[in-house]
Amino acid sequence: MPFKRPVLALLLAAAFAAPAAHAQEAKPGVTIYATGGTIAGAAKSNTDTTTYTAGSIGVQSLIDAVPELKDVATVSGEQIANLPSNDITQALLLRLAQSINRQLAEPGTHGVVVTHGTDTLEESAFFLDLTTSGSGKPVVIVGAMRPATAISADGPLNLLQAVSLAASRQAEGRGALIVLNDRIGSAFYTTKTNTTAVDTFRAAEQGYLGMFIGTEPRFYYSPALPTGKLRFDVAGMQSLPKVAIVYMHEDQDNEQIDAAIRAGAKGIVLAGNGNGSVPTVVKKRLEELTKQGFPVVRSSRTGSGFATKKEEGIGSGILNPQKSRILLMLALSQGADLARVRSYFNG
Ligand code: SIN
Repeated sequence: MPFKRPVLALLLAAAFAAPAAHAQEAKPGVTIYATGGTIAGAAKSNTDTTTYTAGSIGVQSLIDAVPELKDVATVSGEQIANLPSNDITQALLLRLAQSINRQLAEPGTHGVVVTHGTDTLEESAFFLDLTTSGSGKPVVIVGAMRPATAISADGPLNLLQAVSLAASRQAEGRGALIVLNDRIGSAFYTTKTNTTAVDTFRAAEQGYLGMFIGTEPRFYYSPALPTGKLRFDVAGMQSLPKVAIVYMHEDQDNEQIDAAIRAGAKGIVLAGNGNGSVPTVVKKRLEELTKQGFPVVRSSRTGSGFATKKEEGIGSGILNPQKSRILLMLALSQGADLARVRSYFNG
């Protein structure tokens, strides 16, 4: 007897029931924290990739622009700020880290993504690396070099790759990660190296941790954390001690160092010449400050390499000036004395 149409429909539905149920399996929960930047930037023309307004588009519009996100994760968005990254403050960073830690403690959350302007992205990413991901859950920081209105905008794919990464088991236990331009970098090491190019984020010595094949993350190595990586608890903290960065050059004197101290700096980072070197007159001042227990971290303006141990002041090790400032602020926020600060940088 021929099947009546409804019966045939039921049989067909039953035949496809297994894959359909599989397709409906709950996706990993990923929260996107939007802070602004070029990824949320808008310009008057689609060829304008330099004079746009960063931080113009809200988190829901970023999510709506990439419907494919729902294929990889159950996504929710939170607008933490909508600023150019040059206006990110330490108060905002503390609020962001505290929100992320609360979210990561939720069993339904697999990971988080932070959208951020690229100019200071490495500073926030390094801060989050040191203050979140105690659980090993993925914390992914993503930006874009072209505004959302640009022809060939890089933001949508960067965001989809970042969410795919935050939803991936492979991303666990690696510290905070930076995603741009099909690459995965360690937030501990990665820095911005070019003013306008889309392949600007690099770690000169350490390279990338992995890449994307389409939207699928592919790591080169098993999970590992950077040598000497520390973790700071910032729960309930409202502010951090002020740390200034002073740039060294030929014929530099002590005026800016002393001005920074008068203005309330509790520590100073030098963008030193070569291996954290300074003119003799500055070295003498550093000798006095070291005797007083005042921390001066000597990093390098060269852009890569290791600033070795120093008698006068503290060699920054592998950290560039902007990352050294973040670590020094966090160290001082815990009441670390000179010996402890030295161990953090030289560890
Ligand atoms: C910014 O850092 O907010 C502007 C530049 C960028 O996101 O690429």
